[in-house]
Amino acid sequence: MKVFVYHTPELTPENSLPDCAVVIDVLRATTTIATALNAGAEAVQAFSNLNQLMEAAEAWLPEKRLRAGERGGAKVEGCDLGNSPLDCTPELVGGKRLFISTTNGTRALQRVEKAATVIAAAMVNRQAAVNYLLTTQPETVWFVGSGWEGSYSLEDTACAGAIAVSLIQQFKSSAATIAGNDEVIAAIALYSQWQDKLLEMFHHSSHGQRLLRLGGDEDLKYCATTDMLEVLPIQKEPGVLIKY
Ligand code: MLT
Repeated sequence: MKVFVYHTPELTPENSLPDCAVVIDVLRATTTIATALNAGAEAVQAFSNLNQLMEAAEAWLPEKRLRAGERGGAKVEGCDLGNSPLDCTPELVGGKRLFISTTNGTRALQRVEKAATVIAAAMVNRQAAVNYLLTTQPETVWFVGSGWEGSYSLEDTACAGAIAVSLIQQFKSSAATIAGNDEVIAAIALYSQWQDKLLEMFHHSSHGQRLLRLGGDEDLKYCATTDMLEVLPIQKEPGVLIKY
């Protein structure tokens, strides 16, 4: 297995795709997607474009759908929810399809939607992603961070490092053996430095600070919790993720 880290969707190669793409948006899209599926959502359908989200949701039974929209960290007017994982309770999302559009995470999903396999990972379901990779052993794996509007996000790269560290330990391998690019080594170093103080790191990160300004303290705490959910979101058709 060769693993590649791309800090943002824009940095992924244009003319190739991996056997498995692992999309990461720790704050907060992939955390929210994992939480919604864990809470019993039927599926999560991701859109980069809000109008397309509204159109697709319109064709769904109102009692079977929820529209989640986020821009700049805030809830989009006209949607039922924003992008807080804490809103995804079994009472609210159980049996429903979550139609979601976020500033960066859903764009990252769209960027790699043609890959043979697409899974969504965050700190909350890190081990579920590792288990999937250990079991299926894809030859090429891309960890795609969502970043923020084309620029780097600390928390996504740290999560890529967290998955890589666990893979190396469980494969009894080494960073040099699995790393397909230098970014993998850097992601491992970043995670190793901050693994016992991830929440502190999120408080330093630019999007963490944005969410704190919007009152997102509890979201940050939740998103920093490692290996809490066993659920793995996997793409069943372009843009549609279900529980693996
Ligand atoms: C994104 O897609 O950029 C994020 O998930 C933003 C957020 O925290 O809602």
